[in-house]
Amino acid sequence: MITRRGFVGRAAAVATAAGLKLPVWAKAFPLPPGGLRASVAEARAERPLLLGVDYYPDQTPEKLWEEDARMIAEAGLTNVRVAEFAWGLMEPAEGKFDFAWLRRSVEILHKHGIAVILGTPSAAPPPWLSSKYPEILLVNKDGVTLAPGGRRFTCPTNRTYRRLSLGIATEMAKAFANTLGVIGWQIDNEYTLQPHARCYCKFCREGFADWLKAKYGSLEKLNEKWGTVFWSQTYTDWRQIPVPLPSNGEPNPGLALDYDRYQSYACASSAEEQLAMLRRECPKHFVTTNQVGAPLDTLNLREMYRNMDFVSSDNYPGFAQVFMPALASPEVMATMIGLGHDSMRSVKGGKPFLVMEEQAGKAGQSFFAPQPHPGQLRLWVFQAVAHGAMGVNYFRWDSARFGAEEYWFGMLNHDRSKSIGFEEMVRTVQELKSLGREALESGYVAETAVSFDHDSSWALAVQPGNSKLSYMAQLTAWYGSVAGANTGTDVIHLDEDLAHYKAVFAPVQYVVSEKQADNIQRYVQGGGTFVAGFRLGVKNESSQIVNAPLPGLLRDVMGVSVKDPVPVYTEKIAVRFLPQLAGPDAPCVLWADLLKPESATVMATYTGAYEGDAAITVNSFGKGKAVYVGADLDPQSLARVLRTVLAMSGSTSSIEAPRGVELTRRRAGEKEWIFVLNHTPTEQKINLAGKFSAVVGNGPSKETLTLRAYDLAVLQRG
Ligand code: GAL
Ligand code: ZN
Repeated sequence: MITRRGFVGRAAAVATAAGLKLPVWAKAFPLPPGGLRASVAEARAERPLLLGVDYYPDQTPEKLWEEDARMIAEAGLTNVRVAEFAWGLMEPAEGKFDFAWLRRSVEILHKHGIAVILGTPSAAPPPWLSSKYPEILLVNKDGVTLAPGGRRFTCPTNRTYRRLSLGIATEMAKAFANTLGVIGWQIDNEYTLQPHARCYCKFCREGFADWLKAKYGSLEKLNEKWGTVFWSQTYTDWRQIPVPLPSNGEPNPGLALDYDRYQSYACASSAEEQLAMLRRECPKHFVTTNQVGAPLDTLNLREMYRNMDFVSSDNYPGFAQVFMPALASPEVMATMIGLGHDSMRSVKGGKPFLVMEEQAGKAGQSFFAPQPHPGQLRLWVFQAVAHGAMGVNYFRWDSARFGAEEYWFGMLNHDRSKSIGFEEMVRTVQELKSLGREALESGYVAETAVSFDHDSSWALAVQPGNSKLSYMAQLTAWYGSVAGANTGTDVIHLDEDLAHYKAVFAPVQYVVSEKQADNIQRYVQGGGTFVAGFRLGVKNESSQIVNAPLPGLLRDVMGVSVKDPVPVYTEKIAVRFLPQLAGPDAPCVLWADLLKPESATVMATYTGAYEGDAAITVNSFGKGKAVYVGADLDPQSLARVLRTVLAMSGSTSSIEAPRGVELTRRRAGEKEWIFVLNHTPTEQKINLAGKFSAVVGNGPSKETLTLRAYDLAVLQRG
């Protein structure tokens, strides 16, 4: 028998097991007695493909629910997600529950063959709760208590908030455990969405002390690991330990890093409480939670998803247009979206993930991005699938006429007419259905990996070394360079299994643990190519500087030591490439690690003040190679260098694609699907040697695939 967890385990194995059927929650979705209309029967025959829409019956007059359900079904959608912000309606006063309205809505949806994912509503507690228990409010990094009235204004540690969150979720679970049509749960909503990403209240301070006690056992050990003798910070009682609020001086780096870890743990453990309850009450249902899709370093998602069935993420390319116009060229946007998907998929080792919210039109809150160009709504959904999504829910069905998101456009306009993109979305759903379960649940093929390390990001945020240096900016630049080669990229932690990657890239791996160092050594020894950026191995896990020449634990494998770490501000420093990396001299932008080769050979040197010092080196170690990119390069040079190294590792795409055309592969057993996505506003031609046929879109003609602006094709060989 397949267990719920087994399902996801199997779903991962989908990569290799062709034709796997996964009727796990079909149990929760049986045919009702008396039969159904044919179209509905089809949807109910087994677990639906998760092709749906986020739906708000709580915000819609009941007289429209029937029409909504009918139209949702007619659009070919198979599920909805509901209720994640409906705490106030479900518990109008403390301990008084009302699920009758939600039950009526679920019944109507079920009648139309629409399955339901229920959201637990902890992201937005109602006013009765915040008035009665103001201690649940989050205290931000300046020590200011947030006001209620928005969402996610709560402390992740506060016991009252967690008790009441679990309380409403438990009542919901009991009410819907056996309700026909309900197939799974989304816990809370976007733990990662936090302009105020951390809480610094007294409950968090107490929680932090408890967490530290469990981690270190004794104050002696904690004092030593943090180096509290500096500035007379030696703690003699756990209750003395502060949280990093403003204190006329930077916080102790060890304390700051542990505080980030604690806050991440607080969110994960809060989700885990709801998860444990849902496992008990609703053993037939899957459980997930959704995150902001763009890669954010707020939380360690591996911790949060450890026991959940699969990862869910939200995909809003429109935000880039509004908030990052400089980055919003379609090609750059495509890379950023790709990084979001790859990092989400990689959280559970490559298992297919669900896009719980997908942009359905003009997108925004106070401001909004314009309607995506014709073709882009379809393209972005296929991009998610190309990167390993098993399904997509459009956000949202209708467009709210009230509330903070009136400017977020759904599949229906404010007047309930169909949106400009409606037909495109319907077509996309049809095409995904034609692609079928096997493709949607197949594995993503990745030859390379990029490290996304929270510890490094958090530690570097406290001490960037150069005021302009940002971990996330470096990650994005490195990912863009590597992913642009179209050989498939996972976004990993360096203590995971690396053996199957041809090359592993680690931008600013500032913190390196012993376990990671051993893992990297083993990987290179066995034949892998490890490519690291500047500021490598500077710190240990306590955020103390290592007691050895840099790059510390990785000195042997890299075959170099750092002669001097140099932050670059106004000085003009350039990098000159040796023939292997052929290219014009490049500016060295924010950082220059001056390298002293020990067993490594030089691939590039500095010019100017540091004339002759090595900037990039390569070391043969065991059967593999380790490359140290000591200089912060401009994007073009970085891309050229990383692609050259990638090719040296033996990873090259068999299909050459023009800039802005993305290629990915998904595989199940012998079957492979090749996704070709044109993110550019112009027609593109892609040369294909060999025979290919199209499963979606137009196929090639005379070995040339022609894709119109924002068009795509899914191909199979032969
Ligand atoms: C997501 C969130 C939704 C909605 C959407 C549009 O971040 O999960 O609840 O707010 O964005 O802004
Ligand atoms: Zn708190």
